[in-house]
Amino acid sequence: MKDFISVDQLTEKEFYTIYDIYRDYRDRYRKGETKFSDLRGYSILLPFFENSTRTRTSFELAGKILGADTINISGSSSSVKKGETLYDTIKTLEAMQADFIVMRHYMSGAAHIVAGRVKSRVINAGDGTHQHPSQAVLDAITILEKKGKIEGLKIAIIGDILHSRVARSDIKLLHMLGAEITICGPQTMLPRHLEPFEVDFVTTDVNDALKDKDVAIFLRIQLERQKKPFFSTVNEYSIKYGLNQERLNLLKEDAVIMHPGPVNRGVEIQSELVYGSRSLILEQVETGLFTRMAIYRFLLDS
Ligand code: CP
Repeated sequence: MKDFISVDQLTEKEFYTIYDIYRDYRDRYRKGETKFSDLRGYSILLPFFENSTRTRTSFELAGKILGADTINISGSSSSVKKGETLYDTIKTLEAMQADFIVMRHYMSGAAHIVAGRVKSRVINAGDGTHQHPSQAVLDAITILEKKGKIEGLKIAIIGDILHSRVARSDIKLLHMLGAEITICGPQTMLPRHLEPFEVDFVTTDVNDALKDKDVAIFLRIQLERQKKPFFSTVNEYSIKYGLNQERLNLLKEDAVIMHPGPVNRGVEIQSELVYGSRSLILEQVETGLFTRMAIYRFLLDS
């Protein structure tokens, strides 16, 4: 596998190979081995045409821990602002001998287009409403670490499914790994055609969605992708779909809650519950670092 554009590329066996690499790096790092030489001599360029905290930082840090040279390119300060096309920008980065291009773009399909035109390995760090494959891998690993398995778990994904590349990626991967998937959101935020989504249950009732689940993944309301309002007010959304203590009690007793971040505090999840005892949100971030180290290594070995 030259590039990692979509979770569709992964088999179950390949996911568990990444998980094995993840565990090896994490365990060695925790024992004090904080520098590796696996990517020494390699360069990683990170053009991000959309904002990011977690993904960009963890891909950069993961590259540095593995010994690579990393360079950030912000879309807003690049020559794209002077009219250069995405194609010409990426060919320029390739000419600088980039071994890896880790890119985020607001256009669905951008990473796929680029990957077919450059020799550099391309990792999709999120493209429009299409895919965010490394997020799905880290989410699956976070669940696996906490629950010891994925097969047979009942997982609810709640929120703005329509605009969410995380939902598309998580649903595909978690379903392949044997979870039962329920999606929930306002009717206006559920895709009209659900056939390509491998989901077991669809509901607009959040109480119904949460009942007896092992894991609940809440998604950010993506106001920046909503050209017209998809609900009356943020407050109404929060009342109808936000997680509060009463709704938390509907989950199984040992259930966990997750969110890919950034969280709209008090909207998707009540503020006190964001880092509460049932929340894995910070575990997701930590897992993301070792997962991205593992993804680099996996691509090099493929
Ligand atoms: N989960 C996620 O993609 O977060 P960032 O936008 O901060 O990278």
